[in-house]
Amino acid sequence: MNSEVEEKFGPRKLEGMWSHVFSYHPFKPVLDRAEGIYLYDTDGNRYIDVSGGPIAINLGHGDKRINAAIAKQLEKFAYCHPTLSNQPRAEYCERVSQITPWDLNAVFPVSGGSLAVETAIKLARQYHVEKGNVQKYKIITCHESYHGLTLGALSAAGGPGYQSKFVPYLHPWPHIHQPSARPPAGMSTDEYAKFCNYELEEAIHYAGAQNVAAFMATPVSAGEDYGFVAPKKYWQKVREICDKYDILLISDEVVTGFGRTGKWFGMEHHDVKPDIMVTGKGISSLYAPLAAVIASDKVNEPFAKGAAFIHGFTNQGHPVACAVGKAVIDIIEQDGLIENSAEVGSYLHDQAEKRLLKHITIADVRGLGMHMPIEFVMNKETMEFFPVGSNAERKLQTFGLKNGLVLYATLYGPRRPAAHQRGLPLFINPPLCITREQVDDLIDRFDTTLTEFEAEMGV
Ligand SMILES: Cc1ncc(COP(=O)(O)O)c(C=O)c1O
Repeated sequence: MNSEVEEKFGPRKLEGMWSHVFSYHPFKPVLDRAEGIYLYDTDGNRYIDVSGGPIAINLGHGDKRINAAIAKQLEKFAYCHPTLSNQPRAEYCERVSQITPWDLNAVFPVSGGSLAVETAIKLARQYHVEKGNVQKYKIITCHESYHGLTLGALSAAGGPGYQSKFVPYLHPWPHIHQPSARPPAGMSTDEYAKFCNYELEEAIHYAGAQNVAAFMATPVSAGEDYGFVAPKKYWQKVREICDKYDILLISDEVVTGFGRTGKWFGMEHHDVKPDIMVTGKGISSLYAPLAAVIASDKVNEPFAKGAAFIHGFTNQGHPVACAVGKAVIDIIEQDGLIENSAEVGSYLHDQAEKRLLKHITIADVRGLGMHMPIEFVMNKETMEFFPVGSNAERKLQTFGLKNGLVLYATLYGPRRPAAHQRGLPLFINPPLCITREQVDDLIDRFDTTLTEFEAEMGV
């Protein structure tokens, strides 16, 4: 790689003040300000936020309406003493219940996606205890799924990449396969999805239905098959199986919620109602640390009747975060961001298929709406991966920065070894306000980035 490019945009050495930030791996550019889909560094360079941060920036950056909402709340109070009624929290929960589908009406705001997953796991367990089914505790999830990195969430997220160093702390909960764009030889994607349904029932059988509290999954695949959309029938069967065995269905919408897929929530594409929804990321567009667990009337019933949920955090329902969350919902509605996510998202998929799939390193383009993970490999004909030591991901990101793109790490390398002949996800998940012209510009720059990267790597 040209040393000037490396010097200006490459990975940062952790010297001086940077050496005090524990386990930190940024590139050289320092963010100065952000606006719409753009990030500006302190040298005045402009970049497109290709992935919307970690698939989380749903509004544009720098939206002054959020500043106003924060200022308005701060003028009154920043934090509400737990003994007093927290009105911003109640107003926010009511607002969320207005945009959630079905009877997902009871909202528990927390401050991050992993905490929301922990909360959902405990809620599922306590729901069953309150109903007298005290044995139910196991949570079934999918191999190679991702639900966060706190210990409960990590037990649920399946895969040695994240889990192996922490195994003694993890719960040995059952994991099943998730529907895949690359089913085993001789099986169609539909047949494999049916097999996955069968596996869920089998896992329940071996775990003992009386011991299983919930099945948790993402509405659009996460993990080795990032972005794969399972057939509707798969989800309908999942619902049927959960009902048959009195098992709660938890939909992890941390990525797919708040318009990312072209609907408010991912499960709306499948017409399948979850019992509990877990949200995060786009819920606040990262203007504040916010996430939420949303319970259906059925799950809320014992608590509405008086059972106390044995759970809580100092920052839960933080008034400033709730004010942000409320403003985010208002802006999504006012600016038609769900519609834009569906329409411009579909244009984004078309352009990526036409212009990025021709690259030897791009094996597939998947997803829904403005959620578009692309599958990154060394050679799609042989489905080989770049060796971990080749620093392929860091080099690709450096070329991206040179071409005005901030790319989200695909977690290639020690955190996530390649699994089962799959590539790794590169996320094209820009803020939902992106226009067609901006998509054209993004794809042009991505095309150039891939061409330069492939030449550098000799593929
Ligand atoms: C599907 C899913 N669930 C949960 C989480 C955890 O969220 P957080 O990183 O806010 O703890 C993530 C984060 O990427 C996620 O993608």
